Amino acid sequence: MVNTLPYGAGLDSRLKESFSPRDGVRGIEKPKALYDLIPENNEQLKNLAGRHIVSIRQFDRETIVQLCKLAASYESQGDLIYKPLAGKIMISAFYEPSTRTRLSFESAFHRLGGDIMSITDRSTTGIAKGESLSDIGEMFTNYGDVVVLRDSERESVFQMIENLKIPIINAGNGIDEHPTQALADLYAILKWKPELAVFNKQRAESEKLTIGVIGVPGRMRTVRSLLLTLGLFSDCIQKLIIINPDHDIFDEQQKEELLAAGLKIEQSTSLRKVAGELDVVYINSIAWIGDTYEKLAGDITLNKQTALKKDSIILHPLARGEELDVSLDKTPHNWYFAQARGAVFLRMALLTCLTQRINLVADSPVDRPEENI
Ligand code: CP
Repeated sequence: MVNTLPYGAGLDSRLKESFSPRDGVRGIEKPKALYDLIPENNEQLKNLAGRHIVSIRQFDRETIVQLCKLAASYESQGDLIYKPLAGKIMISAFYEPSTRTRLSFESAFHRLGGDIMSITDRSTTGIAKGESLSDIGEMFTNYGDVVVLRDSERESVFQMIENLKIPIINAGNGIDEHPTQALADLYAILKWKPELAVFNKQRAESEKLTIGVIGVPGRMRTVRSLLLTLGLFSDCIQKLIIINPDHDIFDEQQKEELLAAGLKIEQSTSLRKVAGELDVVYINSIAWIGDTYEKLAGDITLNKQTALKKDSIILHPLARGEELDVSLDKTPHNWYFAQARGAVFLRMALLTCLTQRINLVADSPVDRPEENI
């Protein structure tokens, strides 16, 4: 059909709508409230200096809370006048497609004043000629101060570590883990309810969350890392409901590990049946398998007609498919855009720590070796 409207008809109203800020997405009140609630403890962040980040298992609760405080500090500020990562170089090696993780890491590094080198196609590197990842790691040590790697193979990050003498961050290794996504997920939850940052073994049941996770814990790296993270916050969680039309969804020992962390886990085959009891709905329907992906199907779709609890929030690591309808975008349930935005600040916090520049941004002084000043 030919569009007969003259170009520009209705343009003003369309542009205005595109730029209207949304509560929880761009405001500073929520990060400020989180920042104010958490007492600073730099010891935890100092311990991250120079470390590889491969799994969420490397984190304890206090370190995650302190990272969220630093992220909230960054998010509460406008543009940074002082750039703590000036002179540092990040190598961003993404051998598998990414919108959010690569660009938010690169945005984070730029915002902190550092420089980046970016590889988005492995065929433009020595890998095309058979070069090993451990040899590439040896080279990366000469070129940068931190590496961010995404690859569809679980072992790639470990192969690169063999000769690497600068920190590496796992930005997704096959179906294994995506630790910084889980940190960003937690950051979104804590901005929504800052009181959950405070450990409280006596927390009333009515204040605990029922969290629904739509996905395959054994085959989705985002879900695997998120569940491990939630295990550190089990005092905040009444129960976890894994929603999946299939029954065989956990890896060997995966469920046992989560139960041992204190999580109460139920399973449901139908989102509609449990939607009304969920405080947080975490949805993801894509699992990467090698160079391709499989999509979850069944009663797992969310739209404006889904009978959600009034104050519940929806999180999604994105990219979304049909499982999350755009009709929810302009509702208060939409925290998935805030989650994606917050990932920039969370990654700023982590990068500041790994590159040993926490001393330049902390409120209180940090004991550190002279060479890190
Ligand atoms: N959340 C996430 O990992 O998105 P990308 O695949 O776009 O990086």
